[in-house]
Amino acid sequence: MTALDARPDTTTHRFPAAFRWGTATAAYQIEGAAAEDGRTPSIWDTFSRTPGKVRNGDTGDIAADHYHRVSEDIALMRRLGVTDYRFSVAWPRVQPTGRGPAVQKGLDFYRRLVDELLEAGIRPVATLYHWDLPQELEDAGGWPQRETAQRFGEYAGIMAGALGDRVATWTTLNEPWCAAFLGYGNGVHAPGRTSALASLRAAHHFNLAHGLATRALRDTLSAGSEISLTLNLHAVRPHTDTPADLDAARRIDAVGNRVFLDPVFNGSLPDDLVRDTAAVTDWSFVLDGDLETASAPIDSLGINYYSPTVVAAGSSPAGPSPWAGAEEHVSFLPAPGPRTAMDWPVDADGLHELLLRLRDDLPGVPLVITENGAAYDDYADPSGEVKDPERVAYLHAHLAAVHRAIEDGADVRGYFLWSLLDNFEWAYGYSKRFGIVHVDFATQRRTFKDSARWYAEVIARGGLAE
Ligand code: NOJ
Repeated sequence: MTALDARPDTTTHRFPAAFRWGTATAAYQIEGAAAEDGRTPSIWDTFSRTPGKVRNGDTGDIAADHYHRVSEDIALMRRLGVTDYRFSVAWPRVQPTGRGPAVQKGLDFYRRLVDELLEAGIRPVATLYHWDLPQELEDAGGWPQRETAQRFGEYAGIMAGALGDRVATWTTLNEPWCAAFLGYGNGVHAPGRTSALASLRAAHHFNLAHGLATRALRDTLSAGSEISLTLNLHAVRPHTDTPADLDAARRIDAVGNRVFLDPVFNGSLPDDLVRDTAAVTDWSFVLDGDLETASAPIDSLGINYYSPTVVAAGSSPAGPSPWAGAEEHVSFLPAPGPRTAMDWPVDADGLHELLLRLRDDLPGVPLVITENGAAYDDYADPSGEVKDPERVAYLHAHLAAVHRAIEDGADVRGYFLWSLLDNFEWAYGYSKRFGIVHVDFATQRRTFKDSARWYAEVIARGGLAE
C-alpha cells in the first residue's frame, strides 16, 4: 500500500483504469547531436541557420542534449510514473539522404531508447515525422513533390523493420497542417517557403505519405500493433451565428481540419475546400487511387490541442498566409481570457467541443490527446524551485475537459502532456518553455517544476482531485 492509498480518496475526476498517461517530445526539439553518428541536416537545421528565421538565432544543435542523456531522461519519466512516452524518430538520423539503406548507429540510438523505456515499464509511442525532413529531399522538391511521399513510405518500412519487435504504437505524421501550411504557405516554419499552391500540394502529399506509411507499417508490424496519425485540429468558433460568420468558420474548418480528416477517414477531398481554393489550383496533383491510399484504415486518431480559433466574416491581413487563399473572407479574432507565454488563449472548453465533434463525426475511432500543455516564463528561484501555478491550472482545466468529454461519450484513451522537457520551440527557439521539467540550457541540469510533481500525483491517483 502506498502513502497515497492510505489517504482518504479525494479524487473527483477518475479516468478509466486503462487510460494512458504520457509525456511527449520530438527529435529536433530535444536530441541535439545534430552532426553525430551519420546524421545529416534536416530542413530545420538549414532553416534555423538562416538569419532571422528563429528567435536569437537558436538552433537544435545541442537542444536538451537528450541524445546523450537518454537514461537520465527516462529516470525523470519513472519519477513521473507515466505509462507511455511519445517521441519522434529523426529521419535524417536513420536515413540521411531520405533514400537507400539505413544508418545502423541511428537505428541503434532508437533501439536503446526503446529498450530502456521497456525496462522502465513505459510504453514507447513512436512518431515517424515530426517535421525534420532530410534536407536532400527538400532540395529535390520537398513535400510539394509526390516523390517525397514515396520516400516516406519506404522510411516507414525501414523503421517498422528495425523497431517493430518492440514498439507497438506508431504515429505516421505529427501535425501535417503545420508542416504544410506554416512550412510552405506562410513560411514561419522550415523550409520557409511562401506559396499557397506549394502548401496545398504538400498537404495532399502528407495524406498520401500517411497512407503509404500505414501500408508499410501494416505489412511489417504484428497484428495488434496500433497505427495512428496526429492532427492539430483547429477548434474553430464562429464569432456569432450569422450566416457570414458561420461561413468563415466553415472555410477554416475545411482548410484547417477537413483537408486531412476527409482524405484519411472518408477517402475524399472536401468539395468546399476545392471551391475555396479554386483560384490557386484545380487539385490535378491528386491522382487516381491517392485518396484510397490515404484512407487505409488506422486504429486511432491523435489530437494536439492548445487553444481555440475564433473567426468572423471579414478579411485577413495581407501577406503570406497559412490558409492558401481559402480565408479570403475571414478575419481572426482574439479569443477572450488569460493567455500563455505564446499569447495563446487558455480555453479548455475548446478541447471539450473538439472531442465531442470527433465523437459525432468519427464514430468508432478511438481518440488520444497526443499533445496538450502550455508555455510560461518559468525560472528556478534561489532555492532551486520552479513554481508554475499557471501551468498546473492550465493542465488541470484541460484534463477536466477531457474527463467531461469521456463522460459525454467521447472515446478518449490517453493524454500526453507537452512536454517532458523545456526544448527548442521551433521559430521561438529556447525562449518558450513548455516542459514540466525545467532545463538549464547552459548546464543541461533538469529540475522538476511544481507541475511535474502535480502530474505525478494525477497519474498515481488516476485522476484529478477537487
Ligand atoms: C505542436 C508541435 O507538435 C510541437 O512540436 C510544439 O512544440 C508544440 N505544438 C507547441 O507549440
